[in-house]
Amino acid sequence: MRISVIGCGYLGAVHAACMAELGHDVVGLDVDEAKVRKLSQGVAPFHEPGLPELLARHVASGRLRFTTDPTQIADAQIHFIGVGTPQLQGRLGADMTYVHQAVDTILEHAVAPQDGRPVLVAGKSTVPVGTAEGIAARLAESGRDIILAWNPEFLREGYAVGDTLTPDRIVYGLCEDRAVGNRAKELLDECYATQLAADTPLILANYPTAELVKVAANSFLATKISFINAMAELCDATGGDVTRLAEAIGHDDRIGRKFLQAGIGFGGGCLPKDIRAFMARAGELGVDEALTFLREVDTINLRRRDHAVNLAEEAVGGRLVGKKIAVLGITFKPDTDDLRDSPALDIAGRLWARGAELAIVDPAASHTLRERRPDLNVPETVEEAVTGADVVMLLTPWREYVRLDPSSLISLVNSPNVIDGRNVLDPHEWADAGWTYYGMGRGVSA
Ligand code: UGA
Repeated sequence: MRISVIGCGYLGAVHAACMAELGHDVVGLDVDEAKVRKLSQGVAPFHEPGLPELLARHVASGRLRFTTDPTQIADAQIHFIGVGTPQLQGRLGADMTYVHQAVDTILEHAVAPQDGRPVLVAGKSTVPVGTAEGIAARLAESGRDIILAWNPEFLREGYAVGDTLTPDRIVYGLCEDRAVGNRAKELLDECYATQLAADTPLILANYPTAELVKVAANSFLATKISFINAMAELCDATGGDVTRLAEAIGHDDRIGRKFLQAGIGFGGGCLPKDIRAFMARAGELGVDEALTFLREVDTINLRRRDHAVNLAEEAVGGRLVGKKIAVLGITFKPDTDDLRDSPALDIAGRLWARGAELAIVDPAASHTLRERRPDLNVPETVEEAVTGADVVMLLTPWREYVRLDPSSLISLVNSPNVIDGRNVLDPHEWADAGWTYYGMGRGVSA
């Protein structure tokens, strides 16, 4: 099939490359010339395992193209919208400008195929519920045979290629007019034939349900993380160990073990902004009470960052001025170079504001960090970062940091304090090696 993907950020670039992998002829459209240039050379503009290989293969084969020229999308049968919906400046809601611009672009440039089938617009961006109805109405008003489906995306950064090629479910939000809905379904079925043949569960829904599935899923995940972080607060107040608690409750498969990792909380370009946009939309719909619990989820999450800063102060016995802190990991989670709403970056900023001298290492984001903050000390190696440190803080659980050897690092530091912001180190191993270990809801071991 001929496919266009509008917006080539995390979602769009991965989707475009994966659609090419499925055998489709794909053009990705973005306004960012630098990004398009990189993608056109088969180079990933961000760190995502598996993506460079797909880009290189399919750009070389000619099955995948990237452009800033909207006329190039004209003959696509399906136009996927994968643009960003960032949080509005100073407000909780989502900025829908790019989604509406994408619809404008499609209406201006899409050309109906000759085979009697419609042009399909498939929305993938995370949007406030009700957006799809509005877009469908605009498409209908154009008087052309252009129809809409809402097809939310559930990929995780770091696993984006696998999540797109072998998703755990596919959702089609279809027009309630069955005839229109069936025409859209037929095109999506053809597009996702490989996944459907592999028995990927397919959920058919109306537009609002499909839009809600996405924000409901992210809200549930955020709630799960804040729940376990609330339990971490209880553990800290009582001498409990939240990692054991999570393990024990997680064995109940009604609860499940995933997303029960207590620590410095969730960040990234999705969970925080999505729960806030969801609350804002509920307010507009007059059902804000239904989501007031998400305000608490957000508050608990942000409190984890305060707690990490407080632990650093506790470790140095008071004021942070002039204390050297080694920060291991600055991205919002491992296997990405994404710094959007990174809890680690926020905590580092607060430590710096309190006068601490920081040395920050990260396997993927050092370069960006040096560019953005030339005033910060961003050494190449963990050894350089921890040399002379009063506190070592592990804030993003990159594999190489989880495996660090406490015995070999101890001779480099000024004071052997380690704060395990993600509860991924073994407290006994670090304490036995001579460190004072601070966990997040698992006490202090020395
Ligand atoms: C999230 C969802 O997991 C995806 O399903 C969704 O498609 C995506 O948002 C999106 O809306 O596009 P992502 O932002 O890549 O994916 O990151 P997650 O893996 O969900 O992690 C989010 C944050 O929660 C990270 O900061 C992570 O460190 C933190 N986290 C995760 C915890 O603190 N504890 C956990 O147990 C799990």
